[in-house]
Amino acid sequence: RPRIFSGIQPSGGLTLGNYLGALKRFAALQGGEAETVYCIVDLHAITVWQDPEGLRQRIREAAAAFMAAGVDPEQSVLFNQSQVSAHAEMAWLFNTVARVGWMYRMTQFKDKAGKNAENVSLGLLAYPALMAADILTYQATAVPVGEDQKQHLELTRDIAAKFNHDYGVNHFPITEPLIEGVATRVMSLRDGSKKMSKSDPSDASRINLTDDADTIAQKIRKARTDADPLPGQVDGLKDRPEARNLVNIFAALTDETPDAVLARFEGQGFGAFKPALAEVAVEAMAPITRRMTEYLADPAQIDAILARGADRADAIATPILDRTKDIMGLLRRP
Ligand code: TYM
Repeated sequence: RPRIFSGIQPSGGLTLGNYLGALKRFAALQGGEAETVYCIVDLHAITVWQDPEGLRQRIREAAAAFMAAGVDPEQSVLFNQSQVSAHAEMAWLFNTVARVGWMYRMTQFKDKAGKNAENVSLGLLAYPALMAADILTYQATAVPVGEDQKQHLELTRDIAAKFNHDYGVNHFPITEPLIEGVATRVMSLRDGSKKMSKSDPSDASRINLTDDADTIAQKIRKARTDADPLPGQVDGLKDRPEARNLVNIFAALTDETPDAVLARFEGQGFGAFKPALAEVAVEAMAPITRRMTEYLADPAQIDAILARGADRADAIATPILDRTKDIMGLLRRP
């Protein structure tokens, strides 16, 4: 059975971007042809400083968010990366395959390191090798992600190809990115040229999965837009990134095409569109926020679910890791 893998960092509160670009699609992919394996990537999160108590809380929050968004820990394997040691081991093996230059070219590294590239953690530079390890330790063939992860997935393909070539094997699949739908790049509510992000200093730029109905409505009301009426089709939104973003969010929330949404709002302004968007956003998000709170009321149960997920993940990962060591000439304990 083919396998789908994806992960989310527990490095801050999750946003509507994470929900529409990732979590909602993770849930939708369950029960299909492929087995679904979903991971909270805490080892990635600690490539930048995380307060330990806060990190523990956010790992559980991320687990609650997965389940609240519809990821079923029976249908999918849902677990925490650091509890399955194969990820860190495979990442080391890949550190010997990947080239340093590949890492320096990553735009996410350049953005995060800024002018300070000599002083960031070594883990931040090696981050994509760990990500390749996440995926390839399950021999996953498809990875649903938002647009911002595309370059990392290309590097995963490069690592798989170089490993297969260097060792003369056909061991790792060349993974396909699944970057599909209208919400693969949800933009900031304050600036249509920046993606919605948990690390944006302005809270008004994003909708958090923990925002209540009033906050969501207020953020949408205050979202930056232009003064023109809406066109009947998306072609008419070409140079209007903020308007385009709000229409895309609407369409992703209601599982429609942007054209279908615009057909209803043609000729109307944001005075009419924003309240309608706030309504569909609250309707979609309120049950998720409520279920998250319910899960978080019982942290011991979350820990038990993650432990069970880690056992299942281990069972898939260990034989693939062992085989990788064999190929590389490492001796295993008899
Ligand atoms: P992370 O934690 O930044 O984001 C998790 C997922 O949410 C998507 N996403 C968005 N989608 C649409 N619009 C947005 N504004 C938006 N913001 C975030 C991301 O594309 C991602 O799919 N490196 C990864 C985590 C990771 C991973 C993996 C992913 C580690 N190992 C293996 C896939 C497979 C990351 O930092 O995602």
